[in-house]
Amino acid sequence: MKTTDATVLDKLKTHEPAADALVEPAIESRPRAATGVKEAKIYIDGKFYSEASAKVSVFDHGLLYGDGIFEGIRFYNGRVFRLEEHLSRLWDSARSICLEIPMTVRDMTEAVLETIRQNHLRDGYIRLLVTRGIGNLGLNPMQCKCPSVIIIAAMIALYHESFYRKGLTIVTCATRRSNPAALNPAVKSLNYLNNVMARIEANLANADEALMLNDAGNVAECTADNVFVIKRGQIFTPPITAGALRGITRGIVFEIAAELGIKVLETDITRHDIFVADECFLTGTAAEIIPVVKADGRLIGNGKPGPITTRTMARFRQMTRETGTPIFA
Ligand SMILES: Cc1ncc(COP(=O)(O)O)c(C=O)c1O
Repeated sequence: MKTTDATVLDKLKTHEPAADALVEPAIESRPRAATGVKEAKIYIDGKFYSEASAKVSVFDHGLLYGDGIFEGIRFYNGRVFRLEEHLSRLWDSARSICLEIPMTVRDMTEAVLETIRQNHLRDGYIRLLVTRGIGNLGLNPMQCKCPSVIIIAAMIALYHESFYRKGLTIVTCATRRSNPAALNPAVKSLNYLNNVMARIEANLANADEALMLNDAGNVAECTADNVFVIKRGQIFTPPITAGALRGITRGIVFEIAAELGIKVLETDITRHDIFVADECFLTGTAAEIIPVVKADGRLIGNGKPGPITTRTMARFRQMTRETGTPIFA
C-alpha cells in the first residue's frame, strides 16, 4: 500500500486548466457582478490566485477525508463581524483534531482582511478553510506535513428578504446529528455529510430547513443554524452537549436577551416544545436571525414572526451595521 501511494505521489503533476476551461461563475456568491471585479482573488497559503487557477491537490486530505476545519464569517459595511470569535473557534476546532494552523492569529486576521480588500468588497461572506494538507491515499494525518489555508471572499444572499418577514418552514429529518462521541458537532470540520443528508431531506420535503435531533431524540440544531424557541417570555435553546455548534450568532442572542432583560435557558428541547412554542427562530452567520413559523406542518404561535424574534432581529442588524474589525482602516 505504502509503495503504491508513494509512487502515485512521485508522479503527481500540477494540473493546469486550459484557457478554454475558464467558466462563467454559476453561483451568485462570487464578487464580480456587484463590484466589477472580473475574477475573484482567492487566498491559498500566502498567495492570491484567480478563480480559475485557485486549485488544491487531489491528495489533500481535506478532499480525500474531509480532514480539516472551516469558518463562515460575515462582513458588513466595511467591517468584519465578530472576527476574533470566529478565529478563536477555528483555533479550538484545530486543537480538537490535532491540526496545527500554520500561521498566527494576527497573520490570519490580516490575511482575511487582505482577501476582502483584494476583492473590493464591503459587504459579504468569507469562507476560511484549513485543510490537513497533502498526504498519501492512506488516512493517517502523519503523512500530511503542511496544512493549507484557503480564504474565499464572496457575496452572499442566502434567504430572500421576504423570509425574514414571513418566516421559514422546517421539517424534522430522520438523519440524526452526529453523536459527539463519534464526531463532535462542536468541531466545525470539513466533514458535513451528516448535515448535507439532512439538507437533502428538507429539499425532498419542500421545506426551507431540516431540524436535526440527537440520538436521545432531543433537538440538536438545523443543518447550519442553531435553534431557539420562546415560551411565555423566556428563550430556550439546546445546550452544546445536545449536539449543537457553539454558534457565534447564538452567543449574540444571549447578549441581546441580556440587554432586553429576557432570560435564556440552555436546556433540552423536544419537537413538542417547538410545536407548542409562542415563537421560534434560527441563528447562523449566513442566515443571521430568521423566524420559523411552521414545523412539521404545525403553525408555531399564530404563524407569524413574534415580537421577541423581531426585536432580537432588529438589534442584531444594528450590531452588524455598527460593530466589527475595520477592513480598510
Ligand atoms: C452546523 C451548524 N450549526 C450552527 C451554525 C451557526 O453558527 P454561527 O452562528 O457561528 O454561524 C453553523 C454555521 O456556522 C453550523 O454550520
